[in-house]
Amino acid sequence: MLVNAKEMLKKARKEGYAVAQININNLEWTKSALQVAEELKSPIILGVSEGAARYMGGFRTVMAMVRELHDYLGITVPVAVHLDHGTYEGSLKALEAGFTSIMFDGSHYPIEENVAKTKEVVRLAHAKGVSVEAEVGGIGGEEDGVVSAGEQADVEECRLVASLGVDMFAAGIGNIHGKYPKNWKGLNFELLEEIANVTKGIPLVLHGGTGIPEEQVLKSIKLGVSKINVNTECQLAFADATRKYIEAGKDLEGKGYDPRKLLAPGAEAIKEVVREKLRVYGSVEKA
Ligand code: 13P
Repeated sequence: MLVNAKEMLKKARKEGYAVAQININNLEWTKSALQVAEELKSPIILGVSEGAARYMGGFRTVMAMVRELHDYLGITVPVAVHLDHGTYEGSLKALEAGFTSIMFDGSHYPIEENVAKTKEVVRLAHAKGVSVEAEVGGIGGEEDGVVSAGEQADVEECRLVASLGVDMFAAGIGNIHGKYPKNWKGLNFELLEEIANVTKGIPLVLHGGTGIPEEQVLKSIKLGVSKINVNTECQLAFADATRKYIEAGKDLEGKGYDPRKLLAPGAEAIKEVVREKLRVYGSVEKA
């Protein structure tokens, strides 16, 4: 079922679990994520960054691929197709292409501009039944070539942006995209608690899901996190499995060079990561 993310996240927030946003990069990613969600009867959000959309041939190509795979595989669990860290222009294009959910990331703008643009995206998206995620305080690390050291969100700004009618809300609380450095201080739970207090039950989003220790994940879910984004971990697992296949010389045996064989261990490795995330986040059997 292709749906927006509103109801699945409301339910998650109410029942105390989180829905995984698995970022997709190509056909293998999409198939693996959809198949595991169906297998474990879990809702899922497919995250698509603007860079990943360009790579796959644009928003409309992504939407067509997801829609057709969803039908072909007979997926019955709720699936949202969500723009990840959208620019204002990207948000409009994704809306036009039929995405069911949009993150407008105005966190790098002065707060007044973040507010104005978030409001406009909410107006346009809600008119089409599309859910919206907003962000305050940058998430550290690198995404699509943009490097940020990360910020701890300002609580008053969180209150303001979360009150604009958004369906989910992301804030920087010490989380970063990509691998966490050895000297990472961990998530700022005092800040998360304050943010949860001023955002009135809106499902909170934790970016940078790769490598956050399980006890910190569970604690953040207790404090109101209902959506956790994972990208790098699937990429690492895919690369590792593919490297092992090639290093074992399997591509040189028989028709081992056939992409259907060459990419199979990577696709299976992605599935294992997604299974693990859905179990830890508690969304299994919640579809
Ligand atoms: P990771 O790549 O660290 O898992 O973060 C993903 C993310 O937050 C996408 O928005």
